Amino acid sequence: MAIGPTALRSHYCGALTLDAAGEEVRLCGWLHRGRDHGGILFLDLRDHTGITQVVVNPDDAELFERAERARAEYVLAVAGTVRARPPGTTNAELATGEIEVVCTGLDILSAAETPPYQIEDEQVHEDLRLRHRHLELRAAELQHRLRMRAQLAAACRSYLDSRGFLEVETPMLTCPTLEGAREYLVPSRTHAGRFFALPQSPQLFKQLLMMGGTDRYYQLVRCFRDEDPRQDRQPEFTQIDIEASFLNEEEFLGIVEGLIGALFAAAGQPWSLTVPRMGYDEALRRFGTDRPDLRIQGMELVDLADAMAAVEFRVFQEPARSADSRVAALRVPGAAGMSLGQIQEYTEAVQALGAAGLAWIKCHDVAKGRDGLQAGFLKFLTDEAIAAVLERTAAEDGDLLFFGADAAGVVNAALSHLRARLADDLELRDAGWQVVWITDFPLFERGDGGALQPMHHPFTAPVEADPGQLRAKPEEARARAYDLVVNGVEIGGGSMRIHDAALQSAALDVLGVSEQEQREVFGFLLSALRHGCPPHGGIAFGFDRIVMLLTGATSIREVIAFPKTQTAQCLLTGAPGEPAPEQLRDLKLRPAARKP
Ligand code: AMO
Ligand code: AMP
Repeated sequence: MAIGPTALRSHYCGALTLDAAGEEVRLCGWLHRGRDHGGILFLDLRDHTGITQVVVNPDDAELFERAERARAEYVLAVAGTVRARPPGTTNAELATGEIEVVCTGLDILSAAETPPYQIEDEQVHEDLRLRHRHLELRAAELQHRLRMRAQLAAACRSYLDSRGFLEVETPMLTCPTLEGAREYLVPSRTHAGRFFALPQSPQLFKQLLMMGGTDRYYQLVRCFRDEDPRQDRQPEFTQIDIEASFLNEEEFLGIVEGLIGALFAAAGQPWSLTVPRMGYDEALRRFGTDRPDLRIQGMELVDLADAMAAVEFRVFQEPARSADSRVAALRVPGAAGMSLGQIQEYTEAVQALGAAGLAWIKCHDVAKGRDGLQAGFLKFLTDEAIAAVLERTAAEDGDLLFFGADAAGVVNAALSHLRARLADDLELRDAGWQVVWITDFPLFERGDGGALQPMHHPFTAPVEADPGQLRAKPEEARARAYDLVVNGVEIGGGSMRIHDAALQSAALDVLGVSEQEQREVFGFLLSALRHGCPPHGGIAFGFDRIVMLLTGATSIREVIAFPKTQTAQCLLTGAPGEPAPEQLRDLKLRPAARKP
């Protein structure tokens, strides 16, 4: 008997329990798995809520024959009666494991080709899964993450709405803003040769909203950055973007902590209301990074430059004598038994980050000083230097010490990476959440070419709001900026903004933006700043990163319905694609020369 013209569905596949025993139900879903047990068919029917076992008995030959035709991923509508599973056949792992539905009707709503891989098979190469993302989306885990994402978005809106923030949409087709990342450009048809930029963030628009009297703004907004994607980075991603007027840092950060608390609550996670703060300098000194993972207890970088300036070991001596270099040690408790092969692996990892090498000392018997230690270069260290190493690292018998000696940036990158890798490999991270505000950033840093660039973006307010001083001593300027770091992931960053045209101009001068460029690129901002601008500030959170953390996902791709690959492609649709010749003609663009 086929199902008649009544509603296709009465219940979801994950909803039925013993309470429903005896009920007539209609289920719809995909055939997860079918098994033939000696003339009885068991069909596992799956939807986004779960799986129900459907039993098809052979007494209705026509129904049985139709059910037998169903293959994996066929879409079925099933009518039947709920009953308790016979003793010994219940499945404790399934929410519906105590019942089954005895089939009285079945329709094949859509046949399916043999899928290229089995849904929920985690071993399958990610490229194949991304190419068939519609199949991967059927997996319970991904469904759960998308649902959590939507719940977190709702919690975010509800919290900010209740505090007087107004959600305002800002343009996607806009002007380049020099915010730091490479931009995606969109050619204009009506203005040949000119381009829109897709926004890296709505930074200037939200500031203009403050100048426009909006007072409190937020937006769950898509941002675009033409950077190589990574574990926690996508070329298009979503920010919770926030800006407010007439609030000081404390008032603003209080509101923002409340928001994060609301998101944790929506995800059923505990949240401590007071978030500690750590200065940027302290974070670099102790952890080598401004995104420290405070779940890793101990294992802090220990400075040794002053103790190494007089040693013969050149690897340490030269950086120890240079002002912008660093000599630091990292103590790994109980790791003196580490094999040379393993040490070599870590050495190669830090070399990939620019380090020249990774010196080490194994501490076998600390009380014996030099004689209780093992390392190739001990003979080039003075007794005083060895004593300083042991004392400052608080080394104990059985510990392994690693050393970085190089430009400070290189040492920080190498040892912070090593710290995180060791924490993974040796399972040194505590469970739970470690949240910290990083504050007191420098306003500018030197880029690879030596030129000054903003640590955040050019609109961040310096602590000292004097244009003359900013121009004279830009490297001393500190920013009124703050980043929120959760378990070693930067989930958000923001600042109080410059709200004075002269100061904004000075900041752009320091960055080498000529007067003409200032007029052409930032004229609208400078003009708005001269028309009465409230003190204002804001922040943006990486929403994908928050969802990633709160759902325990290991990659940002697991919380985005249709993500891009490491090379910024969409394997499902084939984007980026080639435009048709007439499209290019309309845009007055010539196709790129093809590679032979
Ligand atoms: P920022 O550039 O620090 O600040 O970005 C804010 C937050 O967005 C997230 N994020 C990303 N997430 C995924 N993929 C990416 N490619 C990516 N890039 C950034 C991070 C980051 O902390 N306009 C300023 C904010 C402000 O000053 O208010 C801005 O965009 O979690
Ligand atoms: P070498 O004298 O070059 O053989 O190096 C001796 C040890 O110091 C080796 O373990 C190297 O990996 C390590 N090493 C070399 N350069 C550095 C550096 N810049 N920082 C830390 N260790 C280094």
